[in-house]
Amino acid sequence: MSKPFAIVTGASAGIGLELAALCAEEGFDLLVAADRPEIHQAADRFRGLGADVTVVEADLATTDGVDLLWTAAAGRSVDALLANAGHGLGRAFLDQDFRDIRHVIDTNVTGTVYLVQLVGRTMRSRGEGRILLTGSIAGFIPGTYQAVYNGTKAFVDSFSFALRAELKDTGVTVTCLMPGATETDFFARADMLDTKVGQGKKDDPADVARVGFDAMMRGDGDVVSGWKNKLQSAIANMTPAGVLAEQHRRMAEPGSAEKAKS
Ligand SMILES: NC(=O)c1ccc[n+]([C@@H]2O[C@H](COP(=O)([O-])OP(=O)(O)OC[C@H]3O[C@@H](n4cnc5c(N)ncnc54)[C@H](OP(=O)(O)O)[C@@H]3O)[C@@H](O)[C@H]2O)c1
Repeated sequence: MSKPFAIVTGASAGIGLELAALCAEEGFDLLVAADRPEIHQAADRFRGLGADVTVVEADLATTDGVDLLWTAAAGRSVDALLANAGHGLGRAFLDQDFRDIRHVIDTNVTGTVYLVQLVGRTMRSRGEGRILLTGSIAGFIPGTYQAVYNGTKAFVDSFSFALRAELKDTGVTVTCLMPGATETDFFARADMLDTKVGQGKKDDPADVARVGFDAMMRGDGDVVSGWKNKLQSAIANMTPAGVLAEQHRRMAEPGSAEKAKS
């Protein structure tokens, strides 16, 4: 009997690394992708956990990169797609470089939906499959000083629920993992280490991944990891957007870490 097969994007670090490790531990073979060479070391860890691993190094912000990943699946049936690759971008919108803005949108939105469509079609024709999208509780909150990123996560959260409803009764489940601030490379890469949220206490990526993996296996619609984040997202749903945008300023404004200490 061949083992089940999972594709995990953004598997070189953070939440995706832990998601892929869980897949390996739970008996999946893997196709993993990230943009930088660190993905090869991560693949060795997954092999050590018993998985047969194929690695793709590609920029998933591009349709060419996603095509490269999909070609590497070599027609094998995909039992689980964990579309997790993504990154943020801090600081004031008008001061950001448009190429960086575009890369956030193309990774978090365009590349993600393209991959989900390619894989989702094959799952629908087989009448089975599990899709896990890494959204965020940031999708509920206008992201002052992280405006584009939060917008992309609002897209992912919304898209995930809509696709889940479209695929009802097809045997394909769609689950949205919505983490809060998590201890990964995310804040360094987004240039947010001088912010209150960047320096604040965060969740462990292994715990977040476990919550997402279990929700995907159960076929749940969404899961917010951690009780504090559950509370924060429940409150966000009842709070006017303008108030949320001001609250986000206090967490994400450049220099807010120092301000919070004084
Ligand atoms: N950390 C948080 O607080 C938090 C909270 C909520 C949601 N999230 C979401 O969780 C997901 C994982 O982030 P993380 O926190 O684990 O951050 P991370 O440690 O920086 O990991 C991000 C992963 O995504 C990959 N990636 C990013 N852009 C890519 C691209 N264009 N092409 C290919 N791979 C790409 C990275 O690989 P390379 O380094 O090779 O680019 C890395 O493997 C993201 O979707 C993020 O939005 C994070």
